Amino acid sequence: MRNLIATPTDLPRGQSPKVVPQADPRQRAWLEVNPAAIEANAKSLKGWLAKGCQLMAVVKADGYGHGAETVARAALRGGASSLGIATLQEGLELRQAGLDAPILVLGNLSHVEELRACLDWQLIPTLSSMREALLCQNLADGSGRQFNVQLKVDTGMSRLGCDFQSAPRLIEDIGHLNHLNLNGIYSHLAMADGDRHGEAAAITTLQQERFETVLRSIPTTIDHCCRHLANSAGTLRDRNLHYDMVRVGLALYGHNPFDQWDGEIQLHPALAVKARVTLMRDVPAGVAVSYGHRFITKRPSRLAVVSIGYADGVSRALSGRIEALINGQRLPQVGAITMDQLMLDATDHPDINIGSVVTLLGQDGEASITPKEWSNLISESIPWEVLCSFKHRLPRLVT
Ligand SMILES: Cc1ncc(COP(=O)(O)O)c(C=O)c1O
Repeated sequence: MRNLIATPTDLPRGQSPKVVPQADPRQRAWLEVNPAAIEANAKSLKGWLAKGCQLMAVVKADGYGHGAETVARAALRGGASSLGIATLQEGLELRQAGLDAPILVLGNLSHVEELRACLDWQLIPTLSSMREALLCQNLADGSGRQFNVQLKVDTGMSRLGCDFQSAPRLIEDIGHLNHLNLNGIYSHLAMADGDRHGEAAAITTLQQERFETVLRSIPTTIDHCCRHLANSAGTLRDRNLHYDMVRVGLALYGHNPFDQWDGEIQLHPALAVKARVTLMRDVPAGVAVSYGHRFITKRPSRLAVVSIGYADGVSRALSGRIEALINGQRLPQVGAITMDQLMLDATDHPDINIGSVVTLLGQDGEASITPKEWSNLISESIPWEVLCSFKHRLPRLVT
């Protein structure tokens, strides 16, 4: 059999190799990303949107851990017309990868050099104040170019954006800055994923009312600008929240943000987390497993040692609480999750052996495990956090 991994003798002696030898990415633990699922989700979302509404694919945090470039290309194929990112670096990487779609920086850029890079790379910064607007105006003035910017209005999130009461004045003032092209006004919902009738619904309505008040104040000279409010939850819950565009992250990756959802559109999870069984252990009853001896076998047991751990992104807080899939069957994880490995109780599964593929998250046959299944087990966690938690040690394979 051919060696899959380069040996030291394959490399020139005494010279540092130009290419770092690579382990077989499917031998230990890995992520599988399915761009066809992203594309299908974008298409379904587009089909769901109010007439004329555009889809922005939110690909920040490296595409919620799926790989920003892969996700961006798939979402654009599926009908997204723009991309949302959080940091300047994320935008620069997409531009350098050759993506030329409009890109909105959802995070705040406060330093003039960051704003200059936006102008140079045609990234649209989000403004929250006149200070940022003036910085952009000065940069554009010096360059002889128009600077596309968007204004964020805080309608009840108390994070980025100008206060909704001062927004009409700010919009007017920005309208007088001749090098700025205010091509969007937006806000962000704080509780759209909450229940449909209680406090969450009331807060969403209040935020929408505040947003509408601001929109009514837009002078006719700049009323061509794109108005947007909804994240995944707002998009899926109510077409009245759609306006000219929606900014969708979680749903694009195949997950709905609600606790209960009767799903009018089908979403396909695009990420699987997999690892191999590297050792099988037959142990008697009464054996303590892993750090802290939190799990003691109650019967003669067969343990499968799996090569993935918290350094790969499987939170230690999930120890002894999750299940994993092998050959479409659920196996309980036992004992503390360690940095590089975890153990499964394979006693009832004689078919499992060294080399068996374990699905930690994702689909295996008829069975599947979602990020929500994990986040429900960790206090204060959410599916978004689970998706973003996988570390660079896990090779990401595009399937
Ligand atoms: C401003 C903004 N818009 C849209 C999104 C997308 O949210 P979601 O993943 O819930 O669709 C985010 C994500 O946090 C965001 O910060």
